[in-house]
Amino acid sequence: VIFPRPDDFHVHLRQGAALALYTQDLAANFGRALIMPNTLPPVRDPAGLIAYRDQIVTAAQSAIPAGGSFIPLMSFKLLGDMLATNIAPLKAAGAVAAKLYPQGATTNAQDGVAEIETLFPVFQALQDENIVLCIHSEDPQAFCLDREKAFLPHIRSILQAFPRLRVVIEHASTAEAVQFVLDGPDRLGATITVHHLLYDLDAVIGDHLQPHMFCKPVLKRPEDKLALQHAVSSGHPRFFFGSDSAPHDRVKKECDCGAAGVYSAPVALPLLAEFFSTHANQTTMQNFIARNGALFYGLPLPGDQPGAGTVELTEQPWTVPAQYHGVVPLAAGSTLGWSVRPITKGKS
Ligand code: NCD
Ligand code: ZN
Repeated sequence: VIFPRPDDFHVHLRQGAALALYTQDLAANFGRALIMPNTLPPVRDPAGLIAYRDQIVTAAQSAIPAGGSFIPLMSFKLLGDMLATNIAPLKAAGAVAAKLYPQGATTNAQDGVAEIETLFPVFQALQDENIVLCIHSEDPQAFCLDREKAFLPHIRSILQAFPRLRVVIEHASTAEAVQFVLDGPDRLGATITVHHLLYDLDAVIGDHLQPHMFCKPVLKRPEDKLALQHAVSSGHPRFFFGSDSAPHDRVKKECDCGAAGVYSAPVALPLLAEFFSTHANQTTMQNFIARNGALFYGLPLPGDQPGAGTVELTEQPWTVPAQYHGVVPLAAGSTLGWSVRPITKGKS
């Protein structure tokens, strides 16, 4: 099966020396990705956004198959002290999305937003500038399995207060969030990760403790996974792929107080190919990874993007490496039914 090099609408590339390695793993398979801003310090102003994008573009060069391209789509982090006037300059610098982290909800979210309502003037500016609001939809005060559901009323009020604002529920993990999107307006979408689509909480704590499967939001019940699978295999256009690929060094995961995040960028496409070959079909897969998200964001489709190139997925067994530069990936060491073969010819 040959696809245009697809989109990943939620990915963490980190910073420092590791950034280049993670970017290369991603750019080997994806043509475009929405880059999360939870670095230290966060991406929060035009200069920071441009500098981060430049680092990613440089790092991607060496991984891009000849004739292909890699485009980082940039987001910035919403902070409690942000002003409506900060938004237009971020848009001018190229931001396509703003990321809302409730305070303390996940990795590097200590500086997240405590009172969502205080940011309403900023949301107004996002709506005016046509920037997408991406939400880590979890109320950190709630019990861990209920956090996503507990945050949905905030999203309802945001949608009501800003009738033209586009909103994405990131890494949707529950049947309730799926239903919320289905019942919502066309300007409400959700990203779905490969791990929430294929696994449930048993993969984290059902047998042995599996720290490399620990992420936020935590994997949920089998019926939540089924609801996500149904949303994806039905081909509903407002669900699209966002890996939430979130690398942490092995030592940060295999310790007391382990970090949340699953590293899935290198394995996402073969795992999705396996899922779609049994639960849906190639067209639905192509829409999920290379159409629905682009249409929601108002971007050219990956196939129409000059120089985007293609990836080929073949039904050839592939054993996932145990580690990528000190990070244990999703499905490490297991043999998958599909593998990726990058194609070197691009359209131009
Ligand atoms: C992400 C990270 O490590 O940056 N972790 C995670 O468990 N998903 C942050 C996030 O998206 O929540
Ligand atoms: Zn994330």
